[in-house]
This record gives sequence, structure tokens and C-alpha cells, in this order.
Amino acid sequence: MKRNILITGGAGFIGSHVIRLFVKKYPQYHIVNLDSLTYAGNMENLKDVEDATNYTFVKADIRDAEAMEKVFAEHAIDSVIHLAAESHVDRSISDPMAFVNTNVIGTANLLNAARAAWKERGLLSPLGGVGGGRFYHVSTDEVYGSLHDGGFFTEETAYDPQSPYSASKAASDHFVRAYGNTYKLPFVISNCSNNYGSHQFPEKLIPLMINNLRDGKPLPVYGKGENVRDWLWVEDHARAIDVVFHSGKDGETYNIGGHNEWKNIDLVLVLCSIMDKKLGRAAGESAKQITYVTDRAGHDLRYAIDAGKIERELGWKPSITFEQGLEQTVDWYLANDKWLRDVTSGAYRDYYAGQYSKR
Ligand code: NAD
Ligand code: DAU
Repeated sequence: MKRNILITGGAGFIGSHVIRLFVKKYPQYHIVNLDSLTYAGNMENLKDVEDATNYTFVKADIRDAEAMEKVFAEHAIDSVIHLAAESHVDRSISDPMAFVNTNVIGTANLLNAARAAWKERGLLSPLGGVGGGRFYHVSTDEVYGSLHDGGFFTEETAYDPQSPYSASKAASDHFVRAYGNTYKLPFVISNCSNNYGSHQFPEKLIPLMINNLRDGKPLPVYGKGENVRDWLWVEDHARAIDVVFHSGKDGETYNIGGHNEWKNIDLVLVLCSIMDKKLGRAAGESAKQITYVTDRAGHDLRYAIDAGKIERELGWKPSITFEQGLEQTVDWYLANDKWLRDVTSGAYRDYYAGQYSKR
């Protein structure tokens, strides 16, 4: 079947993997990538698909309501996979309004554009599902808050966001559900754990550590390094998005995770030992770069996803082990020195100047 799919945030980390997968796997679909190219968006991430005949790039901002209406009309959009967002928790602490504006207001603009266009074209529910409209919101496990007593986040866990970032993502999830309930906008949501892999902006833990390891710079571990995250290879997340987009039920939520919990300090030590080997250093040499710094304000202790529903109902599970994924990831950053140098010049350096203080 032919579909015209609007993918927002396609020049970012996860979005670029989703675009690559969809453009190559579904030549019958027209993929429209809408991105405003913030510091986190990079056209280099899409070099291998930019000339594909089923792909169009539109530079626009989801905060711009008129531009959203226009893209739906010009490309007869019948489906949305919405990833565009401000995505970094530390930035949400220093500039919360940027997160309100893009993640909440931007998402509401997109919902309004979908609602108006699909009402006119008869794509609102009860048609729904494949063949009708589909608004897929890609969200985060951080909406569930922080785990302190064991256990896992399920799709039934009550929302309890703790940072400006997670509050903005929780608000956008609520808006999506509210448009489903009120206007019969056909939607699906997924909430995923921490992603890692190629093309991730080196402000996030894994690429930041790889970059600093390579450059012989301090490895800033927040607090005591005891916070726990559940890591998933980004290409497995892109596969999950494909499965949820095509087979997820209207109005449902799917949690996506790697069953792969790591304390930050243990993960950094594994990265150090991989880098010792890759850079021909003596065992233990890289770990000397570890520096404990002031903790993140309101730092969530533990995230852990129960991904049982998507596995049972849609047959998805991660395809590779963490060891395989980390090795591939380190190799990619070491082989893509120019990419790292380009994205870490200028504004990046300004942002990180004086960012950390030693504990
Ligand atoms: P990213 O920061 O790497 O990319 C975000 C993209 O959105 C960039 O290309 C940026 O240019 C674009 N963008 C930002 N503001 C925009 C605006 N106002 N208008 C249009 N485009 C805009 O983010 P990511 O890590 O790839 O995350 C993508 C989505 O997945 C986000 O919604 C995030 O909340 C969610 N998510 C991320 C993770 C993770 O571990 N990275 C995990 C779960 C969910
Ligand atoms: O759980 C999903 C979320 O994962 C996504 O929704 C977010 O978009 C994504 O950024 C990520 O959020 P985190 O805050 O968990 O990721 P980050 O890579 O920033 O941090 C991972 C952990 O490492 C966290 O406990 C903070 C810690 N950390 C991070 C950085 C950048 C450090 O100790 N030092 C650092 O320099």
C-alpha cells in the first residue's frame, strides 16, 4: 500500500535511523523528513538516503503552525511518526522553556494539523489503523519517573515525571491521548529506554565518554555513578518503531527496552576497557580519566522497562547483545572522526565550557 509518512526529527539520532530503515525497506512509501536542524540535527546523518526517489526533506519548525498545515496539504500526509524534540535532560534543567515550546506546543501544533487534514479526508477514527490516519508519538520511559524499590515500568505505571524534559514529554503524551479521545485522532505511543549507537550527539553519556576517552579528557561521572539506565541499541529501537507503526493497535501504548540495566559507573568502566584495547593502551589506563562531578539536579535513580507487551503482542525483541552493540558503537565513532569533530565544534564547545564542577 502507498503511504505518505511525515517523520519529524529525522535528522537527529534516532530519527535518522528510522528514516534510513523506512526509505530503504519501503520503496512504495513516500517519506517526508521534517526537521528544523537544531544543534542536534545533522544532514550528514542521512547522506546515504538523501537522493532516494521516495524521500523528501522539509526544513521547518514544529512550533510553526502554518508550516505544519502546509506540509500536510502539500504531501497529502496520512501518517506521522513524531520524533522531533528537545531531548537532553541537562539542557532541560538550564533552559526548560525550550522544552515546553518544542515538546509541548510543537506537538500540539502537529496534532492540530493532523486533525484538520484528516477530518477533511475522512482519516479520523473509526476508520483508523492501517489505511486510515496514524499519529505515532515516539516517547520516553522517563515519563514514569524514577524506580527506587526494584520493579519495572509497565504500560500501566502511573506517570510521575521528575525533570523539565520528562514533564514536557509526559505533557505531549497526554495531548496525543486527549486528541485521540476528543477528536478521534488515530494514535499510538511508545515509551522507550536509553538508546545508544551511531550518530548520537556527544552530549549523551555513551558518545560523550567515547569522545572524551579518545581526546584524553576527563570522564564526568555524575554523583557516585550509581544511577541505573536500561540501554537499547538504536537500530533495535528503529525496528521496534517499524513494528509498532505497522502492527500496533490504535490507542495503545507499547514500552520498548533492552532488559539491559547498567549502573553508570560500571558502564563507563566497560567503555574504558574497550577503549584500552582499541587505542592500544595498557589495561586500566583509560579509567584514570574518570572524574566524579556534581550530580545532576533531581537525578532519577533508576529506569527499567518491562518490554513484555511488545514482545508478546507484536513479536519484537532486541536483536543484538550489549557487548556487540557497544563494540560496533565504539568502532563507528572511532571511524567517523570528522563527524565527531564537526558536531563538537563551535556551539558545542561553548555549551560545555565550565559545565562541570568536581565533587
Ligand atoms: P535528538 O536530539 O538527537 O534529535 C532531535 C531532532 O529533532 C533533531 O534533528 C532536531 O533538529 C529536531 N528538532 C528539535 N526541535 C525541533 C523543532 N522545534 N522543529 C523541528 N525539528 C526539531 O533526539 P533523539 O535522541 O533522536 O530522540 C528522538 C525522540 O525520541 C525524542 O522525541 C525523544 O524524546 C525520544 N526518545 C529518545 C531516547 C534516547 O535515548 N535518545 C529514548 C526514548 C525516547
Ligand atoms: O530513558 C530515555 C531517555 O534517555 C531519553 O528520553 C532521553 O532523550 C535521553 O537523553 C536519555 O536520558 P538520560 O538522562 O538517561 O541520558 P544521558 O545520556 O544524559 O545520561 C545517562 C546517565 O548518565 C544519567 O544517569 C546521567 C549520567 N551522566 C550523563 C552525562 C551526560 C553522567 O554521569 N555524566 C554525563 O556526562
